[in-house]
Formats: sequence, structure tokens, C-alpha cells
Amino acid sequence: MRRWMRAAVLVPAVLVLASCSGKQDVFSPKGENADKINKLQVPVFIAAGVVGLIVALMLAYVLITGSRRAKQVDGDDPQQIHGNTRLELTWTIVPFLILVVVAVPTFATILSISHRPPDAMKIDVYGQQWWWSYEYDLNGDGKPEIVTANDLVMPVNRKVELRIHSRDVIHSFWIPALNGTRDAVPGRTQYLEVESDQVGEFDGQCKEFCGLSHANMRARAVVLSQADFDNWLADMQKPPPTPAAGTEAAAGLEVFKTKCSSCHQIDGVDDVEGKAALVSGHAPNLTHLMSRDIFASGNYPLWVTDVNGNKVFNRNQLEAWLRDPVLMIPMAPDERRGMPNLKLSDNEIDQLVGYLQTLGPYPQGVTPP
Ligand code: CUA
Repeated sequence: MRRWMRAAVLVPAVLVLASCSGKQDVFSPKGENADKINKLQVPVFIAAGVVGLIVALMLAYVLITGSRRAKQVDGDDPQQIHGNTRLELTWTIVPFLILVVVAVPTFATILSISHRPPDAMKIDVYGQQWWWSYEYDLNGDGKPEIVTANDLVMPVNRKVELRIHSRDVIHSFWIPALNGTRDAVPGRTQYLEVESDQVGEFDGQCKEFCGLSHANMRARAVVLSQADFDNWLADMQKPPPTPAAGTEAAAGLEVFKTKCSSCHQIDGVDDVEGKAALVSGHAPNLTHLMSRDIFASGNYPLWVTDVNGNKVFNRNQLEAWLRDPVLMIPMAPDERRGMPNLKLSDNEIDQLVGYLQTLGPYPQGVTPP
């Protein structure tokens, strides 16, 4: 009995604590649409909780009294009861009424958050196994000026329309603080309006099972003030620096061209007149890699806090990733799913990181490497 009691306390405690994972919190809306969803889900959650509690108590009552009676009559079945019309009508009509009451605000909320504001900033979002790519077509000519991955950078207090696509299987884009989920379906474009009323970083997650590393397919919205966002836009449109001849970075650029550039693009390095003629696009565009907070599909930070409290370049984990990515995230590179182990030498890894760390702009408040 004591073991059961302990499980009855521990299991719910673990479940409750596991849901407190910090920034990815469905009950802390930071934008208008997420707020509408929260205002709907809290009362529905309470009503469902009360109904669930009543059902659980009634079930416990029936189980306890039923087993007692069974014992009293020496193992015979308890008395069987059929056809209590009043009870049956009650437990049909009451749930029906509860569902009708819940349906009214639910439909109203769905309609209200599906609205597509015409003045929104538009960003194309591409899901693929197992990372998110963001393309900013700033002048609306269908050719994105900025292509980035993992971090969705957006301005505060501005409606942003995400046009969600998939390059392989069905994924689902979800940043709980900013809105509900929207599936990324191959061959279709789906729309999701997000807006944040706060500057900050908000974590998300692919919500549709999409294969081996579905659980590692993370996302993050980085919300900047309008001025910071304008600076970011300007910096992201600058070409990457060309390393000076003879430096470690110059050697790293050669490693990139020979080992990385069939999947990864760096604008102006492995493209022809702005078109990625020789790049598969299977992997994130690295032109401004250092502008991001996270790498490896958002599973590792690109910047960490050192003993003095400074945000510094996370060289160790980026090198470990280049040494053997499959050790860091489950992937199946043999089936062209994820990054392969390229068997780079320590020297090549040093040179490559030496080059990659020149690919600014750097996030705010970090110490450039
Ligand atoms: Cu992509 Cu789950």
C-alpha cells in the first residue's frame, strides 16, 4: 500500500515538473494570438479538470463498494442494474451542454486567430528533417534576400505572417509563446500569424512526428526592438568577409569548399551569381552563422556564459559537432537524413571553425571570437 501511495504522489509530480521547462510554456503568452488561445484554454482546462475529478471519484466509489459487495456474497457477481432512464438522460445531456458551451468560444477563437493581416511582414518557413529554415523576401520579388536557420528573428510589436512549407515530410511549427501550431505539409503553403509584445527569446519545437530526430527539431523566436531588427536586416544583407590569404580562416574556407559546400551554402562562396547552382540545400545556409544563438537544429548554444559572466563563443561543442554530429543528435546520414561524419582531421576542424567564426554579425552582448 505504501508503495502505491508513493507512486501516486511521485508520478504526477514528475509529470508536472517535466512540463516546467522554462521558456517553452503554453501558459505564458507573449503575443495577441497566443493570448487568445490562453484565454480559451484556461477555463476549458478547469472545466475538464472538474469533470475528470468527478469521474475519477465516481469510478473509485463504484470500484470500492462493488468489490466489498462481491466479497459479501461469496465471490458472486455484484447485483446487475440496467436501464435507469433518468441517469442515462442526465449523463448524455449534461456533457452535450458542456460541449456546446465550450464550442462557442472555441470556434470564435479559431476564426479570430486564422485571420491573415494584409500589412504583416512575411517570412517563408521551411521544415525539413530535422531543422527549420527561414527566408526573408524583403522586396517581395520571390527571391529571398536573407536565408537563415534555427533562429527566427523578428521585430517586437509587429505582425509577422509565416508562410509554412515542408521540403520532405509533414512537420508542425510551434512557438507556444507566440501562437498555436501549424503543420508544414509538402506541396502546400500554410499561414501562421505570430506577434510578440516583448523583446526576448522564445523556444519552440516541431510538433508533428517526423522521424528519428523529431524530438530534436527545435525552433527559437528571437524578438528584437525595431532598431535592433533594422540593424540585423542590414547586417544580414552584407556579403560574408573574405579571409586574408595565409590565415587559418583562409585554410578553413578551402576546407568548407571541399568538404561542406555540396550541402551548405555560404553566399558568394559556392553559388553562381547569387544562385546556389552547386548546393543541394539539404543543410542550413551558413552565410551569417555567428548571428544565431543556437546550432545543430537548436540543440546546442552557439554562445555560452563564461566564469566572468560574458557570453562567449561555444567553440568546444561546435568542434564536437564537426568531429561527429551523429553522436550529438540521432540522425541517419546514410539515408541523407542529417549531417554525416565527414571524418575531418583535428587540423581541418580548427581551420574550419577559424573560418566559420568570421561569419558575423554577432548577437548583441556577446564577445566576438
Ligand atoms: Cu519535424 Cu517533427
